[in-house]
Amino acid sequence: MTIQVGDKIPAKTLATMTKEGPKPITTDDIFKGKKVVLFAVPGAFTPGCSNTHMPGYVVHVDAIKAKGVDTVACIAVNDAFVMGAWGQNQNAEHLLMLADGSADFTKTLGLELDLTGAGLGVRSKRYSMIVEDGTVKALNVEPDGAGIAVSTAEKILEQL
Ligand code: BEZ
Repeated sequence: MTIQVGDKIPAKTLATMTKEGPKPITTDDIFKGKKVVLFAVPGAFTPGCSNTHMPGYVVHVDAIKAKGVDTVACIAVNDAFVMGAWGQNQNAEHLLMLADGSADFTKTLGLELDLTGAGLGVRSKRYSMIVEDGTVKALNVEPDGAGIAVSTAEKILEQL
C-alpha cells in the first residue's frame, strides 16, 4: 500500500548528519506541529538528483519557506555520511538532509524502488510531499519512479 493524501506519516526514526556525527531524528521531531516539504531522490550524487532535482530545491528553498513552510527536507535510501556529504556538495545548508539507510521508512510508505538490476539495490521512488502536522496534504510521485517531472521544487511552489 502506498501512502495517500490524508494519511499520517508513520512513526519512524531516520538519521541526519551533525557536526558530532550521525544522529537519530524521529518523524515526530521532523513533522509534529510543523509544515514540511519532503522530497525524496533515488540516490545522492546520481546525475539527475545532483544536476536537476536537488538544485531546484536549493534555489527555491527561501521561496518555499516564504509560503509558510518550516522545513524543507530531502530523503534518500543512503546513509547519513553520504547524505551529509551530498548536502555539503550541493550547498544545501538550508535543507534538512535525511538518511533512510535501510529503507525502513520508505518501505513503510510503499515508495520503494527496486534498482537491483542497475546495481543500486532497493532505493526510494522520486517524490515530493507537503506534510502538515504529520498529515500528508499533497503527494507527487514520479510515474516511472525516477523521472523528474511532478516532484520538482517549481511544482511544489505552485501547490503551496
Ligand atoms: C539519477 O541520475 O537521478 C538516477 C540514476 C540512477 C538511478 C536512479 C536515478
